[in-house]
Amino acid sequence: MRLLRFYRSAIGKKVVVALSGGALYLFLIGHMLGNMWVYGGQEDIDSYSHHLRTFMEDFFGYGGFLWIARIGLLAALLLHVVTIVLLVRQNRKARPEQYRHKHRAARTLASMTMLISGPLILVYVVLHILQFTTGTVQPTAYEEGAVYANLWNAFQVWWIALIYIVMMFFICLHLYHGVWSMFQSLGINNQDRNKMLRMISTVSSIVIFVGFSSVPTMMWCDMLPPPTPKESAQQPVVQGPDRLLVQSEGGHDEP
Ligand code: HEM
Repeated sequence: MRLLRFYRSAIGKKVVVALSGGALYLFLIGHMLGNMWVYGGQEDIDSYSHHLRTFMEDFFGYGGFLWIARIGLLAALLLHVVTIVLLVRQNRKARPEQYRHKHRAARTLASMTMLISGPLILVYVVLHILQFTTGTVQPTAYEEGAVYANLWNAFQVWWIALIYIVMMFFICLHLYHGVWSMFQSLGINNQDRNKMLRMISTVSSIVIFVGFSSVPTMMWCDMLPPPTPKESAQQPVVQGPDRLLVQSEGGHDEP
C-alpha cells in the first residue's frame, strides 16, 4: 500500500523511471560490449550468441537464462514507458500552460526530444528484434544462429546501415539526457558531483554511439571480412528475398 502511494506521487514515478531506465542503460552497455565480438570474427560472435542460449543450461534448460533476462528487460521497458506516460499526464495537470512555455528556453535539444526519441526507439527495437532475433522481417537473407552473416548481409545494404546509425544517434541523445536525469531523480547529484555526473552521461553516450554504429559502418565499408559459409551447410538455405550474400565475394548489394 505504501509502495502504491509512493508510485502515485510524482517523485515516486521519477524514481521508477530512473531505476527502469538504469536497467535498460545497463542492458545497452552489455549489448554493445557483446557486439564487439564481431571484431573477433564470425566464429566468436556466433559462439557468443550460442553461449547466451546455453548459459546455465543445466539449471534453466536451453535458452532458459536468456528468457529470464528477456522477461526482466521487457518488464523494465514496460515500467519505463507506462510510468513516463503517467508522469507526463500528471505534470500537465499540475502545471499551467504558461509555466511550461516559460521553462522551455532552458531545455537542451536532448531533453526537448525525449518524447520523440522515446517512441522512435520503441519502434526501432520491435523492428530490430523482428529482423535479427526472430527473423520475421527479412529485408536481407537470414539464417538462425548465423549472427555474423545476418549482420553482414543486412549492413551491405546502405539504407539499413544508415537507419541503424541514425537510430543510434537518437538513442544516444535519449541516453545523454536520460542518464543525467536518472542521477537527479535518484538524488545522487549535488554541486560537487554534477560535473562528474555530466561527464559520465556524456562520455557513456558517446562510447555507446561509437561502439554500436561501428558495426554497420565497418561492415558497409567492407572493413570487416565477408562471412564464410558454414562447413555443414553445403547449400545454404535462402529464407529471404531470392539471394544470399553469405556466398558473395564482397561488395554492396541493392535491396
Ligand atoms: C548497430 C547496433 C546494433 C546491432 C548491430 C545489434 C545487433 C543485434 C543482434 C545481432 C541481435 C540478435 C542476437 C542473437 O540472436 O544472439 C540483437 C538482439 C537484440 N537487440 Fe540489438 N543491436 C544493435 C542495437 C540495439 C539497440 C540500440 C537496442 C536497444 C535499444 C537493441 C536491442 C536488442 C534486443 C532487445 C535484442 C533481443 C535480445 C533477445 O531477446 O535475444 N539492439 N541485436
